Amino acid sequence: EKGTYPHYMLKEMDEQPGVVRKIIQEYSNNAGELTIDEAILSALRNADRIYIIAAGTSYHAGLVGKQYFEKLAGIPVEVHISSEFGYNMPLLSEKPLFIFISQSGETADSRQVLVKVKELGYPALTITNVAGSTLSREADYTLLLHAGPEIAVASTKAYVAQLAVLAIAAYVTGKSKGNIINFDLKTELAFAANAIQTIVDSKEELHIISNEYLNHTRNAFFIGRNIDYYVSLEGALKLKEISYIQAEGFAGGELKHGTIALIENGTPVFALVTQEPVALNIRGNVKEVVARGANACVISMEGLNEDEDRLVIPKVHALLTPLVAVVPLQFISYYAALDRGCDVDKPRNLAKSVTVE
Ligand code: F6R
Repeated sequence: EKGTYPHYMLKEMDEQPGVVRKIIQEYSNNAGELTIDEAILSALRNADRIYIIAAGTSYHAGLVGKQYFEKLAGIPVEVHISSEFGYNMPLLSEKPLFIFISQSGETADSRQVLVKVKELGYPALTITNVAGSTLSREADYTLLLHAGPEIAVASTKAYVAQLAVLAIAAYVTGKSKGNIINFDLKTELAFAANAIQTIVDSKEELHIISNEYLNHTRNAFFIGRNIDYYVSLEGALKLKEISYIQAEGFAGGELKHGTIALIENGTPVFALVTQEPVALNIRGNVKEVVARGANACVISMEGLNEDEDRLVIPKVHALLTPLVAVVPLQFISYYAALDRGCDVDKPRNLAKSVTVE
């Protein structure tokens, strides 16, 4: 039940720090170390390539998951949109492992791929919020999100949970392979939970930002580089699905190859700056859009921040910034939708689980 909350979405965004803490707990063994089921660990270790299959927000989590598995576990990963993959399969490696990411576990586009994968005899792991869901039952293995029911159509806490579980699976796999990993994920996830709390507590400021940038606009852009680019895609999806503002996420460097033509006086551009190696590059892209009249809202991470940035998020491990950076974008979208009188929890034309192909 949503209790005193006006919307499930607001409640579910507020729950995010608790969800990350719950996941840390659920995936810790008696010795207090992060762990995953032995059979799943060995499936991950045996794979020469991981194919992540998902739709929508879960696909965006998969893009970040690729970074985790490649950087921590040393396993190459491809990420595919489920509705495309099933009818246009790429060449597969010799020992593929398929990972289906699905909050509901009922998405027909993803299930259609799982059925084909099982016909081909390949192993499949489902990462889902719903134990006993179709994708969970039909896959060989399941990792649960432990996010609690997500009722709002716009996925928020499930995305953050997906990122946390993907990070844990990749980290545990990497550790078990003896890979050099010079940080403690458990500690870093706990820091991330605190950082999310800080953002949740600053929601009034996020409402003001939403008003400043989105009040009268028809469109909006979200830009980032590297892992921030994937969060930009998710920020744009949140905004369009609930506020109906046309929004697109772009890789900062790609704008000049066409999209920058759309920048006019006052066009809102949200730019994420959480990745040190590309911080100067994305700031260069911000200058390019500002020179063409954009109303730029720079959201940077502590340590990389500059005076003129509109919002500074607490510092967290470079791989975990998506868990935190997405949160202000969720709130900004929520308030934009609210102020436009949209039905936040049940946006037009959308269903919570998409059970048709
Ligand atoms: C976005 C959203 C959708 C879902 C997509 C996949 O907020 O809710 O894009 O992410 O339909 O759904 P699941 O994860 O249930 O497979």
